[in-house]
Amino acid sequence: MLRTHNCGELRIEHVGTEVTLSGWVQRIRKMGAMTFIDLRDRYGITQLMFSEEYNAELFEKANKMGREYVIQITGSVCERFAKNNNLPTGDIEVNVNQLNILNAALTPPFTIENNTDGGDDLRMKYRYLDLRRDVVRANLELRHKFCIAVRNFLDAQGFLEVETPVLVGSTPEGARDFIVPSRMNPGQFYALPQSPQTLKQLLMVAGFDRYFQIVKCFRDEDLRADRQPEFTQIDCEMSFVEQDDVISMFEALTKHLFKEVRGVDLGETPFLRLPWIEAMKRFGSDKPDMRFGMEFVELMDTLKGTGTFPVFNDAAYIGGICVPGCANYTRKQLDELTNFVKSQQIGAKGLVYAKVADDGVKSSVDKFYTPEVLQNLANAMNAQNGDLILILSGDDAMRTRKQLCELRLLMGDRLGLRDKNKFALLWVVDFPMFEWSEEDQRYVAMHHPFTAPKPSDIPLLDTNPADVCANAYDMVCNGVEVGGGSIRIHDAQLQAKIFETLGFTPERAQQQFGFLMNAFKYGAPPHGGLAYGLDRFVSLFAGLDSIRDCIAFPKNNSGRDVMLDAPSVVDPAQLTELKLSITEED
Ligand code: AMO
Repeated sequence: MLRTHNCGELRIEHVGTEVTLSGWVQRIRKMGAMTFIDLRDRYGITQLMFSEEYNAELFEKANKMGREYVIQITGSVCERFAKNNNLPTGDIEVNVNQLNILNAALTPPFTIENNTDGGDDLRMKYRYLDLRRDVVRANLELRHKFCIAVRNFLDAQGFLEVETPVLVGSTPEGARDFIVPSRMNPGQFYALPQSPQTLKQLLMVAGFDRYFQIVKCFRDEDLRADRQPEFTQIDCEMSFVEQDDVISMFEALTKHLFKEVRGVDLGETPFLRLPWIEAMKRFGSDKPDMRFGMEFVELMDTLKGTGTFPVFNDAAYIGGICVPGCANYTRKQLDELTNFVKSQQIGAKGLVYAKVADDGVKSSVDKFYTPEVLQNLANAMNAQNGDLILILSGDDAMRTRKQLCELRLLMGDRLGLRDKNKFALLWVVDFPMFEWSEEDQRYVAMHHPFTAPKPSDIPLLDTNPADVCANAYDMVCNGVEVGGGSIRIHDAQLQAKIFETLGFTPERAQQQFGFLMNAFKYGAPPHGGLAYGLDRFVSLFAGLDSIRDCIAFPKNNSGRDVMLDAPSVVDPAQLTELKLSITEED
């Protein structure tokens, strides 16, 4: 070993011991005839002391080093005069008598400190330097702890970890596939799994009973702070279960993780189960942030037809939120909110406000309504003096609710109600099976096509697919969908029927998913499961704004790995071998 101790280990009781340490030069402080160096490794920082008087040659050598040099030193542990209570090793320093430079280093392009001066792109290009920073490494240590806790819990519950292939056929989860050409089968392609969904179902058909896998999934979709093109799922499946069984198993896992990894006791109480339609009506989202109130109040009865404001009189939906204590918002602040809802990203037509004060209700639509109607509005919103009512309307109820959701989240942020140390967990249940896609002019599966409908809704498949409810559930924490799953179809005929409703011809369904429907004919047990988004869960635990920060080597928003410079063009010989050619874009 090139060391006797690590850089986080030495304490006052080691004083007088001769030690050898190895690590990186974090900081050099030159103070006349003394030079102090902070030596860093994964475990901590130890101060080294070089004295001109004690060893002039070594002192010279130390002074010539730069940040991030990799060195090995030997010296004796001494008590420090000026102790540093912020460092676990702050009582001691090492008086160095041997210095071995293991590797010199160029000056790093940004400071390797928690508050670095490096911008995002630069840090990603030199991610191996970024990962040297404590704050970044701590996220990966948390991720490791999280995975160990998952494995321990699931192992104790009899789950088997089984690996599934990465080169597969299409596994539809609502995104585009990444595809890989096959050299041995020219003109044919593998797809990378969007999830191991069909394979875990086949493991149930195979009798494995309880499966899990911490697994990479690949989805070619527009990226956001909580989306990466390759991300990790904790993928699970169980046989002979109903929805309640799956929910209680994974609620227990979630409570275990909070306690073990985050030190938060979520108590015995079961998580709230909120039907999808209620989540949409009360919060405008299928992943409501329930750390704070400001629930929607529908105002159709109060404001439609009770005055002369044409926008409300024509609306299919009018809804508002009551923002406590914000009646003193200035014109400028209200304009900012209006611009926010009218931005391209939100897409509302405008914002109506009403301020509740001692002398009545003052609104941006005063002239269209009598004071009584405005008072009815305040009553409907349960608004108190000093509150600000914000109202959106539109001709599509769901779209308007989603816009109001964004406004609610913004106001939650502004009022500091989205505390990262507070956790509000719930299940959203009773999702619709299908949603209508205007783009494709057909129904698409809201979860995935292997989700079972509620048995009582099966007859509706023929008459009114839009009303069919799925046996599906999502786990939501602080406005983030951390997991989702369902009870599956295990009957070949019903599976074929769902493909038909989704617009597949029997031939195409057979060609793409024949393997699954055939398997169901050989004795498939009833089964169901769920997958957590590991990156999202760890980010929540770490209080991160983006899942990138808990991934060792993430992609940027254009799906690029700027460190590896991938994706990149390939050698023409590789294309020839694959019998592929690239057509130039016009
Ligand atoms: P679903 O598509 O809901 O379900 O994915 C499960 C969970 O994975 C996370 N997730 C993502 N995380 C980061 N980047 C992404 N691009 C991304 N996409 C999804 C979310 C989500 O809740 N096979 C089903 C699961 C099942 O039915 O058992 C599935 O993949 O946290």
